[in-house]
Formats: sequence, C-alpha cells, structure tokens
Amino acid sequence: TSAQIGVTGLAVMGSNLARNFARNGYTVAVHNRTAARTHALVEEHGHEGDFIAAETAKDFVQALERPRRLVVMVKAGGPTDAVIEEFAPLLEPGDMIIDGGNAHFADTRRREAALREQGILFVGAGISGGEEGALNGPSIMPGGPAESYDSLGPMLEKISAKAADGAPCVTHVGPDGAGHFVKMVHNGIEYADMQLIGEAYQLLRDVAGYSPAQIAEIFRTWNTGRLDSYLIEITAEVLAHVDAATGKPFVDVVVDQAEQKGTGRWTVQIALDLGVPVSGIAEAVFARSLSGHAALRDASRSLAGPKATPLSAAEAGAFADRVEQALYASKIVSYTQGFHEIDAARAEYDWDIDLGKVASIWRGGCIIRAAFLDRIRAAYDARPDLPSLLSDETFAQEIAAAQEDWREVLVAATRQGVPTPGFAAALAYYDALRAERLPAALTQGQRDFFGAHTYRRVDREGSFHTLWGGDRSEVEG
Ligand code: 6PG
Repeated sequence: TSAQIGVTGLAVMGSNLARNFARNGYTVAVHNRTAARTHALVEEHGHEGDFIAAETAKDFVQALERPRRLVVMVKAGGPTDAVIEEFAPLLEPGDMIIDGGNAHFADTRRREAALREQGILFVGAGISGGEEGALNGPSIMPGGPAESYDSLGPMLEKISAKAADGAPCVTHVGPDGAGHFVKMVHNGIEYADMQLIGEAYQLLRDVAGYSPAQIAEIFRTWNTGRLDSYLIEITAEVLAHVDAATGKPFVDVVVDQAEQKGTGRWTVQIALDLGVPVSGIAEAVFARSLSGHAALRDASRSLAGPKATPLSAAEAGAFADRVEQALYASKIVSYTQGFHEIDAARAEYDWDIDLGKVASIWRGGCIIRAAFLDRIRAAYDARPDLPSLLSDETFAQEIAAAQEDWREVLVAATRQGVPTPGFAAALAYYDALRAERLPAALTQGQRDFFGAHTYRRVDREGSFHTLWGGDRSEVEG
C-alpha cells in the first residue's frame, strides 16, 4: 500500500497532524530525523489509523502515492531549508512539499520560486490552533500554486476545524507566500487581542479593585456576549486557577515578563515596510518587550505616579461594563489594522486574497477564533471592496455606541496610572481617521522649512516650496 500523505518532523505538532490525517481515514507515511520518534508514534497511536513508518528519506518518499504530498513540520528557518534540500532531489515534477511551520513569508516566496524550477509545488501553509488544534482540527492557511489545492484541498478540508455553519476552516489563500503572510497577521492580531485582554484585566484589578477570581467571572460573562472567543474563554480559566504550592492566584505567581517567538514582531516589521499603521499590534509587541526589561523596570519603580483613588464597590460594576465597551471597540480597531495589512500585501505582491474568506477560516480552530469573525466575514461578503472594517456600517455603529465609555476608561486609566497602550493606540487610530485635519500639515511645513522637501496645497495642484530663508514667497517645488 502507499500513503496519501506524508509527515516529516514528528515533534508534537507534526505527530498530532499525522494522527489527525490518519484518524480521518488517510494512510499516512511518517518520518523523523531520529527514527526512534517515528516508531514511538506508531507504537502509541498506530491503532488510530494507517501509518507507514519510514526510517530513511528514501523510504519515506517511496511510501507516498503520486503526486506526492509531503508535509514538513520542523522548526522554521534553517531546519526547513535542510529538509527541503534533503527531499527535493528525491521528488518528481508535480509532487508537493507543504511547509506547515511558522515560516516567514519571504522565505516561503524564495522556496516556492526555487522549487517551481524543479516542477515541485511548494505550499507554505499557516496552521493555527496549537497542539490540540493540530490533532482535532486546526485552521489552515495554505498558499502556493493554485493547482496544489485540487488534490490537497479536500484532504485539508477534512482534517480542518469546522466553523459553526459547518464550513471547513481552510481555503487556498493565494499564491506563493500568501498563506504564511496571513498566518503571520493572524499572530499579530493574536498579540493585540492578548494585550487588550491583559489591559482589561489590569483595569478591573487596579481601578475597580476586583480579585482574579472575580475577574474570571466577569470574563465568563463577557464570553457569552459579543466578545465570545477562545482567548476570552481561556483567560477566565487562567484567572480562576489557584497555584497549588502557595494557594495564591496563579496569575500572581507567574513572572510578569512576556516572551515571543517572532511572528508578532514580523507583522509589525512588514507593516512598516508596507506603510500600514498597525499601531495596536505594534503596542502589543512593545508591551511584551517592555515587560522583559527587568533591570529597567526595577530601576524605575520609584518614579512618581498619581494618587490612586480606587472605585467604590458600587462604581466598580458600571466600570466593568465600560471596560467591555473599550475592549470591544479596541478589538475592532486591531482587526481593522490587521486586515488593512493583508489588503496592502495583496496589492504589493499581486495576491488574490479574499478577505472575507480569511475571516471565514479564522472562525474555528485557530487561536483568535471568535464569534466576531463571522461578522467580519459578513462585512466583506457584503462589500468585498470595503476600504476598511471601520467603513462597515455595523462596526461603525458599534464603535459609535462604545466610544464614550472607551474614552472614560482611558481617562480612568490615565488618572490611576494604569498603562493601557493597546486601548490608547486604538482610540488614537480611530480619532486620527475621523479627524477633519491632522497636524501632518504642520509636519509638511517643518520639512519644507528645514529641508525644502516641498508640500502640496489644498487649493491647487502641484508641489510648492516657501523661501523660508528669504522673503517667504512661494515657488513651485
Ligand atoms: C497558533 C499560535 C502558534 C504559537 C504562537 C505563539 O496560531 O497556533 O499562534 O503559532 O503558539 O506563535 O507565539 P509567541 O510565542 O510569539 O507568543
């Protein structure tokens, strides 16, 4: 017998993905650099489906039916290149390599172009959902040549998560690096969501005076409303958890320095290159970075702050409702920014990405899965050329309804000295977009003053320069 799909790289994500394929009735060839792991997988989980254990690269390739579909689940970067170098010479035109790691989309573009020369279809596929998702249904974001999806698509649809309406959480996202790009932005949004949730928690604790257990209850309630999402759900779980060793809230015994593996940072780096203002995502990345500067924080603890006046118990409940509004409004803004970045990449790289489809496949399986994404899908489906999520009438109305509370929350945060970079950046973005006039006009004047960089006028076409050092008359620039 031959295998319909192969998975190489059997760490937990790779193993779970292989098991997912097998449990869905596919014969799966499995391979790992060290064969012991391959045999361990088959020994432990062989009863779940049909596995073919391959010890060598050659055996692995020979076990696959043609066209071969070979899923690579190794660490992004050098290890991915090494695996491609090992397997590509053994493959034939029409065969497929699917990279399921968190690769940088520029690497995916490079690899796709190189393998195309050999007639190999290279599919950079973002996979979200962690270990549990890989096993029971992830959200999958494959890019690469469209024809790869003919035979690969149905298999991915089978193993993927399903949204509430039954739609599989996978689609052919677009050519070459489009899948990994969309996964990267997914992670950027994930960072922003987590930061906003963190700020909401901090406000409920430091301004409203609630305990972690009480805040867990508040998040549980929020999770039954429009904020219904995986991240809100697990936040309640984490906040309710009590450390067994000390009896303290778990959240109080964890070192408050957030780590990161890079995808959030990439989202911001690429946004800078594309000229897209993803300020909320950027603040989330910077907040993690700031938290990690332990020495700087220690040296700064004695800096002056405001006189804190916590709310009374009677005021706390109303404040919690306001925080929900601020969180929801800020969330709309970070998704607006993330989708803007995908839209800009679509134009830059000539990718035919359907933004409604992206929202649709994020409805299930992935870390940012949320009821909210169905509404984003609906907004783009109704108007595929929507210039921004904020132009959607429903979202605009919701923000309109939330904005007074949003501002009040920021006033309270500022007054109490609670840092809320995510909420603040989101509101600044919103207010800047709404503004009739921005101080950018002044910036242009300054640039013209010190560097003769010229400016455009509101009342005439062309570019102009004022003779600042002379009689200050205006000339064409
Ligand atoms: C996912 C996650 C996954 C990973 C994050 C963690 O979609 O399943 O995003 O890819 O857990 O990349 O990222 P950090 O370590 O950078 O927080």
